[in-house]
Amino acid sequence: MFETEKKIAASEAIKYVKSNIKIGLGTGSTTKFFLDSLGELIKDGTLKNITGVPTSKKTEEIAESYGIKIENNLDNIEIDFDGADEYDIYGNLIKGGGGALVREKIVAYNSKNVYIMVDESKFSEKLHNFPLPVEVIPFMEDITKNNIEKLGGKCSFRNNKKFISDNGNYIIDCKFDYTDVAYEEKIKMIPGVVEVGIFKNMATKIFEGKNNKCNVINIKKS
Ligand code: A5P
Repeated sequence: MFETEKKIAASEAIKYVKSNIKIGLGTGSTTKFFLDSLGELIKDGTLKNITGVPTSKKTEEIAESYGIKIENNLDNIEIDFDGADEYDIYGNLIKGGGGALVREKIVAYNSKNVYIMVDESKFSEKLHNFPLPVEVIPFMEDITKNNIEKLGGKCSFRNNKKFISDNGNYIIDCKFDYTDVAYEEKIKMIPGVVEVGIFKNMATKIFEGKNNKCNVINIKKS
């Protein structure tokens, strides 16, 4: 769904990649379009010496196959390129639909710029559409889930606990009437929680594929 818009967003974002750059590599289908274009540009010699910090094993495999130098080191990441599951007018994001939220947040936090590629269907004035992904340790995880539910949401283990993250943890998807960004801190305080898929104040640009063109939204940092 929205493949054209995803491709349009990725092809606008890639214009910011220059030779000899170190970038963060997100996870998901929109990032895959970005990686495919990057692979083409490396292959035809337009771009040289690209180093990438991958946010998942899947992305690492793809990037490696395209000749991107893999580094698991957070120094000097110029731009992190990633997708999102939902975004609001302030550039707050919900991420983790692909289960890579922990590494995605580490890489985004440590990058000078965070460029998010999305299709228009991901926009919400107030975050409420996409269930909030929360990564939890596989120990007393039902209690952790109950503790998150005390905030007023309805939670379920992704794929009945069959989904295991790259870090060996479970993902709980939490449906709230409205995902207040203040939940990030509240949920992170619950023992057993590793990370929360709220990315507040992290995006610096959003590339929004819409009606066959791309809107580039610059986010003012608060
Ligand atoms: C991965 O964990 C997510 O944060 C993705 O970035 C997000 O799910 C967007 O994925 P798509 O580009 O496939 O919609």
